[in-house]
Amino acid sequence: MPDFTCVLDKDKIKKQISRTAEIISTDYRGRELVLVGVLKGAFLFLADLARELTLERVKIDFLQASSYGADTVSSENIVLKKDIDIDIRGKDVIVVEDIVDTGLTLSYLIAHLKTFGPSSIKVCAMIDKKERRKAAIHVDYVCCSVEKGFLVGYGLDYAEDFRNLPQIYHMKL
Ligand code: IMP
Ligand code: MG
Repeated sequence: MPDFTCVLDKDKIKKQISRTAEIISTDYRGRELVLVGVLKGAFLFLADLARELTLERVKIDFLQASSYGADTVSSENIVLKKDIDIDIRGKDVIVVEDIVDTGLTLSYLIAHLKTFGPSSIKVCAMIDKKERRKAAIHVDYVCCSVEKGFLVGYGLDYAEDFRNLPQIYHMKL
């Protein structure tokens, strides 16, 4: 069994998501919002965030990108595996990510989403991991910032394991 240290427990996750949902609800009051979750890692985060929003009209869609490379290192070769279904032309979009590391995945996905002509695109991430940032990505809404380390749980995986853990752990590799 790998060596895990809890970095975000259930209470902290819940509190940070409520806080973020409140800010988003204020920023988008009276507007229609499309949340675009990035599969697979954002599935729990998006589910918890979406139900805390106090907005009347929220649409939800997903896309999936994959990067080829070693298990714990982000790669620069990004491929779109699943596209959105909703027409986002003229809509306000928030991309919901589990964790922003180098930022390469998000910058690829944002460039892709912009081709559909949305009226705005912002980014909401459960975790902003700053140490290895390569792309100049601005994360508009952040639940938690960490400097470094490999994290698992609450959607985050190591070789597809541990996504179901209800808390976020630092995994010693
Ligand atoms: P980026 O393109 O380097 O920003 O990487 C983004 C993707 O890499 C995330 O959406 C995750 O799927 C994965 N990733 C980056 N850091 C971690 C981590 O600490 N644990 C699990 N997955 C991670
Ligand atoms: Mg991901």
